Amino acid sequence: MIVDKFGRRFRNLRVSLTAACNYACSYCVPDGKRLLKAKNELAATRLLKGVSLLQQAAGIDKVRITGGEPLVTPKFDEFLLGVTSLPLSDVSLTTNGQLLLKKKEVIQESGLKRINVSLDTLNPIRFKKIARGGDLQTVLNGIEEMLHIGLKVKINMVPLRTQNLSEVPAMLDYCLDRGIELRFIELMRMGHLLNSSSFSNDFVSMESLLDIIAANHTFARTDAPYDSTAVRFQIPDKGSFGIIANESEPFCRACTRLRLSSDGYLYGCLSNSNKHYIGDLVDLPAHLVLPKLQGVLVNSLSDKRLSFQGEVTVMKFIGG
Ligand code: 5AD
Repeated sequence: MIVDKFGRRFRNLRVSLTAACNYACSYCVPDGKRLLKAKNELAATRLLKGVSLLQQAAGIDKVRITGGEPLVTPKFDEFLLGVTSLPLSDVSLTTNGQLLLKKKEVIQESGLKRINVSLDTLNPIRFKKIARGGDLQTVLNGIEEMLHIGLKVKINMVPLRTQNLSEVPAMLDYCLDRGIELRFIELMRMGHLLNSSSFSNDFVSMESLLDIIAANHTFARTDAPYDSTAVRFQIPDKGSFGIIANESEPFCRACTRLRLSSDGYLYGCLSNSNKHYIGDLVDLPAHLVLPKLQGVLVNSLSDKRLSFQGEVTVMKFIGG
């Protein structure tokens, strides 16, 4: 097992199936242009081989499917069915929800148990302004359908001071009414936000959020697993919510995440653009690949920072 001097090791793998996205969210894509797929994206079979090798070499036991937007790529079905048949303790999916209704059958067939839907607003006009693609009602219908077929749903909301902050109470009520856990993600200094005044204009801290929520609900902080990114709160008899408090309570020292991009690079840290190509390793015989992969993993682990400083390139195609 590869462990660093802070006791960090890899356990959670996030696989970006494609860099392409059918949205162009204002905090992710500054010019509003659609993100396209990477030049040399790997096929589903090779990504699956990568996952299974990383399982052996790094002790990965949880996988999250991300993008871009993972539901836009034709390899989604094959990858989902493949990854859910690996002996992993957990498989989950982060999606913007636009194509959930179209993917319902394969999701059911795969036995996937939970999904996270990124949704920043319940207002159709604001939705167009933030997401700059897709349609709100389609997402809401997709969420209802996922609940209906028995999936556990979480919603990710990025509160933005100048855009959707007034909607925090309504979003929380929408989620509590449906047994959905809402997770607020503190805005991160990714991409153009790293060097832009819109970060400080839009950033909402955990403390400010809790003040807003406290106006309508009584809640208590609960224990979260060691390597959880979210701080969790329980609202008695109503449900729970979480805050991914990247700035207010950074979790870098307990980070167990490893990321595989759609074009075959490993990233050890979201706040570091260093990457390590493994797309060619998947073709080697097992006795050769595992020692090589160990070396790559040592390098990837040493890319982990001790605090989140932000990064210009990584977020959009690696999906958080
Ligand atoms: N800060 C915080 N969250 C972000 N996301 C994308 N970019 C940022 C950012 N700069 C969120 C998306 C999605 C999740 C994968 O990451 O809204 O919910």
